[in-house]
Amino acid sequence: MEEFKNGFPYERVVVTGGAGFLGRFVVARLQQHGNLNVFAPRRADYDLVNGSDTKRLLTETRPDLVIHLAAVVGGIGANQKQPGRFFYENLMMGAQLIEQSRLHGVKKLVALGTVCAYPKLTATPFREEDLWNGYPEKTNAPYGLAKKMMLVQSQSYRQQYGFNTIFLLPANLYGPGDNFNPETSHVIPALIRKCIEARERGAEFVEAWGTGHASREFLYVADCADGVLRAAASYNESEPVNLGTGSEITISALVQLIGRLTRFGGEVRWQHDKPDGQPRRRLDVSRAFEKFGFQAQMPLEEGLRRTVEWYETRRATSDRKDISPETKTNLQSSPKS
Ligand SMILES: NC(=O)c1ccc[n+]([C@@H]2O[C@H](COP(=O)([O-])OP(=O)(O)OC[C@H]3O[C@@H](n4cnc5c(N)ncnc54)[C@H](OP(=O)(O)O)[C@@H]3O)[C@@H](O)[C@H]2O)c1
Repeated sequence: MEEFKNGFPYERVVVTGGAGFLGRFVVARLQQHGNLNVFAPRRADYDLVNGSDTKRLLTETRPDLVIHLAAVVGGIGANQKQPGRFFYENLMMGAQLIEQSRLHGVKKLVALGTVCAYPKLTATPFREEDLWNGYPEKTNAPYGLAKKMMLVQSQSYRQQYGFNTIFLLPANLYGPGDNFNPETSHVIPALIRKCIEARERGAEFVEAWGTGHASREFLYVADCADGVLRAAASYNESEPVNLGTGSEITISALVQLIGRLTRFGGEVRWQHDKPDGQPRRRLDVSRAFEKFGFQAQMPLEEGLRRTVEWYETRRATSDRKDISPETKTNLQSSPKS
């Protein structure tokens, strides 16, 4: 892998959430490396909200690197329905995993934050220095803040214990393998699904949440995996780092684009009684480039085209997050001694 030109400095890697949307890309890239021992625990086997499972995971696998991707995630609707769960589970997973990793002699931990951690009215592009300048947008604050506590823990643990934890903040992700369940999906899979189903029904319109005026930045999932692994290999500082493209698109322009790619010819009706969420999102992506040479590669339209194509060919299974049995087997690779 080109990002590991000087070799990958770890041998035993635990990727929590490694069977999830982003996790599958990260694990697949690590597995290509050949010499690494990669373990992707499932929630059914190690519930990381539970401290004793977290301890057992680290005792059994003895990783030198932990990439923490496990999280309870979802779109605005899911965040609004279960703010307590989004807060508690994400907070507990992060706090316990970082503490237990330190106690078990892990050499490095990569923690994934989220753009939802930024204050609601951050000036664009969002700079890492602005992370603490206000409260996040209320629809995703419990999730964003729970994850942001990993930054506090990471910085204080580096200071007190010299524990090497880094904290990355990806933009909204999309791509093949995304979650298309209407109850929990993010905006891109939700819109793709609505447009395709409307086309098939011959419907004249689709409904979309909010006003369409909000903007978002979208990072292709494989690009995000690349950024996570570059940072894992070579970034060892306590300052948080954004992972994104540096470009934004309004939701209304996004709907037009998805309408075209899904061949849905009807109109869009905006549901003004539903929230827009944060008004704008665009990240300053210069630090990731300076510190570990990360630059997103996938143009949005091409990434969307691949996502639509993936969904159209796998619709039968996508509602259950499309963890196919084959993929499960690959990811369940047990820790080698
Ligand atoms: N998706 C985005 O747009 C986005 C944007 C910014 C940041 N992120 C961050 O990126 C990471 C990956 O997100 P994703 O979209 O790939 O999420 P995802 O597809 O929902 O995957 C999350 C994974 O977390 C695991 N998990 C959840 N609760 C757990 C628990 N109690 N114990 C153990 N494992 C648990 C699940 O394991 P099982 O499969 O075994 O149930 C699942 O594989 C997260 O940290 C998220 O906050 C995502």
